Amino acid sequence: MENYSNVFIFDHPLIKHKVSILRDKNTGMKQFRELVEEITTVMTYESMRDVELEAVEVETPLEKTVQWRVPEESVAIVPILRAGLGMVNGVHKVFPTARVGHIGMYRDEQTLEPHEYYCKLPEGIRDKTVFLVDPMLATGGSACDALAALKKRGCKHIKFMAIIAAPEGVEAVAKAHPDVRVYISTLDRCLNSSGYILPGLGDAGDRLFGTK
Ligand code: PRP
Ligand code: URA
Repeated sequence: MENYSNVFIFDHPLIKHKVSILRDKNTGMKQFRELVEEITTVMTYESMRDVELEAVEVETPLEKTVQWRVPEESVAIVPILRAGLGMVNGVHKVFPTARVGHIGMYRDEQTLEPHEYYCKLPEGIRDKTVFLVDPMLATGGSACDALAALKKRGCKHIKFMAIIAAPEGVEAVAKAHPDVRVYISTLDRCLNSSGYILPGLGDAGDRLFGTK
């Protein structure tokens, strides 16, 4: 795969360890959900390296000092339904006051085309740093459409986080949305003929919510 300046692929031993358990078909729903959350928290830390901080005056027990903080209310989380819901708590661990919007997308199982069925975003989202989250980036159709939906509503600072990605999906998002910073925990080999990522982890939504 080509290198894209807006794509960041993690190479962190802790993420590798956790992803290996996530992939295992014998990992049950509870552990799967916990791992998705933990991996997301690690990714959130890493993806905030470029965040703008504001100066605040703090009084320690000894003296006044100027320190740096993430501005209040400056972050929003938008999961792509359903599987993105599994990542919300992971970002909330780092930003507990972040508002949450929802974008509902499903892939037609035959055509693999994404369809938007729901969109509800918090007020003022256009001025926030938005974390669009979905554990799986396969063809990239869902992510590309969700990003377009956010931009249509005025969002300008968007970070997209996915846990497992196929090269096809990364290329599609990187090319269609060069202004979006894309964070991927693990880059996989390819897609199979049904649009599943290989080696992948199966259907993330089903494994998170026990629907199959
Ligand atoms: C999965 C996944 C992504 C999408 C990725 O969702 O969570 O949203 O597929 O595929 P793409 O990159 O080819 O668009 P799915 O449509 O299965 O819905 P679900 O989350 O409700 O299970
Ligand atoms: N969606 C999933 O949940 N898994 C895949 O492998 C591809 C899309």
